[in-house]
Amino acid sequence: MLLEIQNVYKSYKKSIGMIKKESVEIVKGVSLRLKEGECLGIIGESGSGKSTLGRLIIGLEKVDRGNIQIEGIDISKLNSTFLKKKASVVFQDYSSSVNPRFRVIDILSEPIKTFEKLTKKHTIKKAINLLEKVGLAEEYLYRYPHQLSGGQLQRVCIARAIATNPKFIVLDEAISSLDVSVQVQVLDLLIELKKQMAISYIFITHDLTAITYICDRVLFFKDGLVIEEVNAMSDLRNVKEEYSRTLLHAAMMMNEREETYEIQRIS
Ligand SMILES: Nc1ncnc2c1ncn2[C@@H]1O[C@H](COP(=O)(O)OP(=O)(O)OP(=O)(O)O)[C@@H](O)[C@H]1O
Ligand SMILES: [Mg+2]
Repeated sequence: MLLEIQNVYKSYKKSIGMIKKESVEIVKGVSLRLKEGECLGIIGESGSGKSTLGRLIIGLEKVDRGNIQIEGIDISKLNSTFLKKKASVVFQDYSSSVNPRFRVIDILSEPIKTFEKLTKKHTIKKAINLLEKVGLAEEYLYRYPHQLSGGQLQRVCIARAIATNPKFIVLDEAISSLDVSVQVQVLDLLIELKKQMAISYIFITHDLTAITYICDRVLFFKDGLVIEEVNAMSDLRNVKEEYSRTLLHAAMMMNEREETYEIQRIS
């Protein structure tokens, strides 16, 4: 098993009034498993704790209780460089996840340098190779983030995430800020990279349509808990929980609306 999460809890302190602080539980006993080469979708409404769980998985925050193991080793026992080599992350907000003063070459050099002692020439070669993998030409290497479109910059973020040859990537709403047609391109890129590099994904979203496109399994997340699990995408229509059905219904409505737009555009 690549990743195994057992009964994980996380709470935050919330201010009430001027001084008093109350602890609020956000993740309330989550367990999940991720196999090699698998894409696991996590869907749930806003505020249900999906990003919090994502941050716990990549070690950006520590669990209160429970444990997270990568390849059988508890992540609290892994040093941060080693952990970074195993797991990467791509966030929704691509513009704030890169330094605006860094050129693409600098953005990509950072993870490369952490793990390999390469000459400048070899670093550039590796960066060009990474750009190629995400469908960007060499000319983008010396551009600044503001000189790229949202879709191009998110591709750079994906290139940075795969630079370390990770075992898995947490994609937290990674396509949500992109135009619908660009979303499909980025999803296709992710599917291609998954095949080429044998990476696994945890795909966090509130968009069930994207999940059906890319995921092998899906967990429905509500109020800090996994309330339903679908192990084959063909079973998606048979979800039992009211909450899962609502999300499914919303996605179907969305699809219908997009199809209507498409028909209107063509006619
Ligand atoms: N560092 C923090 N300190 C205090 N509260 C936090 C912190 N991070 C998240 N929260 C709270 O935890 C809850 C869950 O947040 P989280 O970002 O995990 O939700 P989410 O499911 O990712 O939502 P969305 O779909 O909107 O991204 C929210 O109520 C949020 O305000
Ligand atoms: Mg979130």
